[in-house]
Amino acid sequence: MYDVVIIGSGPGGYVAAIRCAQLGLKTAIIEKYNTLGGTCLNVGCIPSKALLDSSEHFYNATHHFAEHGIEVNGVKANFTQMIQRKNEVVSQTCSGVKYLMDKNKIEVFQGIGSFVNSTTVSVTSSEGVKELQTKHVIIATGSKPNFFPSMVPDKKRIITSTEALSLSEIPKKLIVIGGGVIGLELGSVYARLGSEVEVIENSSTLLGMMDASIGKELAKILKKEGLKFHFDHQVQGVVNTGDKTTVTATDKKGNTVTLESDYCLVAVGRKAFTDGLGLDKLGITPNNRGQIEVNDRLQTIVPNVYAIGDVIKGMMLAHKAEEEGVFVAECIAGQKPHINYNLIPGVIYTWPEVASVGKTEEELKAAGIEVNVGNFPIKALGRARASMDTSGFIKVISDKTTDEVLGVHMISARAADLIMEAAVAMEYRASAEDIARICHPHPTYSEALKEAALGATGNRALHV
Ligand code: FAD
Ligand code: NAI
Repeated sequence: MYDVVIIGSGPGGYVAAIRCAQLGLKTAIIEKYNTLGGTCLNVGCIPSKALLDSSEHFYNATHHFAEHGIEVNGVKANFTQMIQRKNEVVSQTCSGVKYLMDKNKIEVFQGIGSFVNSTTVSVTSSEGVKELQTKHVIIATGSKPNFFPSMVPDKKRIITSTEALSLSEIPKKLIVIGGGVIGLELGSVYARLGSEVEVIENSSTLLGMMDASIGKELAKILKKEGLKFHFDHQVQGVVNTGDKTTVTATDKKGNTVTLESDYCLVAVGRKAFTDGLGLDKLGITPNNRGQIEVNDRLQTIVPNVYAIGDVIKGMMLAHKAEEEGVFVAECIAGQKPHINYNLIPGVIYTWPEVASVGKTEEELKAAGIEVNVGNFPIKALGRARASMDTSGFIKVISDKTTDEVLGVHMISARAADLIMEAAVAMEYRASAEDIARICHPHPTYSEALKEAALGATGNRALHV
């Protein structure tokens, strides 16, 4: 008899397993694929960042080295090597999870996990069916790419992020449907490698869920990098014509637009994945978004069955899944953990990076909260001029009455790491004045956060 059986080994599942084991719970984890790590390690965060980093090196070598006085001739992208390196990074990272499972004495079962009842989970693999008895179950089965009937991926020319991470050639032209996180990250990869990239977005901006200032600025920056955007376009159909794809869409005025490309990447969101779990055996019905409903302890309607990560509501982010994994393990062990969902940072790994934590200005206005806003342009930083990464800004939003920082939004080199200063400050309910009074090292990008905080406390920024 196990204390906990976890179905799915993504960042939600494997982190939950480690925390359960640390707390002395006898733990098993079931994964249907041969490698552990889920979407994030196999076909998500890690491979996309590996290709983003490689393509950024290539882009810098071909666009920026000369300005720095570095002359390199005959720079070529060896795409086969890029994909090979990405595969090695993935393989090492997934092996790392296996090592952690063994180290923590977590039993790993390869196969499809399915409920027999609330305390019995079957594992079906090529070796047959095993049944595991358990006191608790954590469902961590994640998500899959979403698509609409007008854009069904054939995984050859009409592709999802999974295929886009393992193409055999750099497309001459790539159409991306969806100007969201995946579209912009993978669109950036191929644009940097020389593909002509056009993004079809059905709304009027990029990244509509973020502070409105971000989408506008990022579109400007990415246009300079060569991406082309078609906003307010509704896709009518996508066809694989053999060695090309044809996308038909209608623009705002109802005109038909036809775009031809080597590949069409469909990146219009992801959907919770529960196929084959046998949820009906427990009387659990996914909601109309396919998600499993949970209460504030992340319990399903069956109290000993929990669900975490992409398969439940909330942001589809690896670190959100991880926090929920730890949270549920601690709940099962009788502790009283807490997650501050307001302070889960979001990062988009374009260059410059985009990062955000807390509320947007639009959300605060809608809630009737009066705010002060400090905005600092990155180009005013000495460090940025030294490295020639001058695009973007940092925006600090604070409460007009109390000066508490309520949101920080940034486009900047190194924003992915910078955002954590804001998150830590906000966790401790810092004021803009608190951040502004902390001595920041010079010359660094972090000075832009201090300057934006000074701006929010009443136009006191020093370098604009
Ligand atoms: P998943 O990682 O999806 O893992 C679920 C696992 O469950 C899978 O391994 C699946 O095979 C397994 N499974 C499903 N059903 C069963 C079953 N019945 N039996 C056994 N096993 C089963 N997030 C970030 O925070 N940062 C990023 O930079 C980032 N980049 C991304 C890039 C891309 C291209 C994509 C697609 C996603 C990215 N994400 C990123 C999102 C991130 O990958 C997910 O939020 C995260 O993986 C969710 O974790 P999870 O544990 O809930 O599910
Ligand atoms: P997304 O929700 O970020 O973006 C989807 C985009 O497609 C939106 O801009 C939306 O307006 C647009 N869209 C929707 N329907 C459309 C249609 N019919 N035609 C044209 N455009 C349409 O989803 P995405 O990019 O697929 O990513 C899925 C999830 O993966 C995200 O929720 C994200 O959290 C996660 N992810 C996170 C990353 C990170 O943290 N850096 C990187 C990649 C993915």
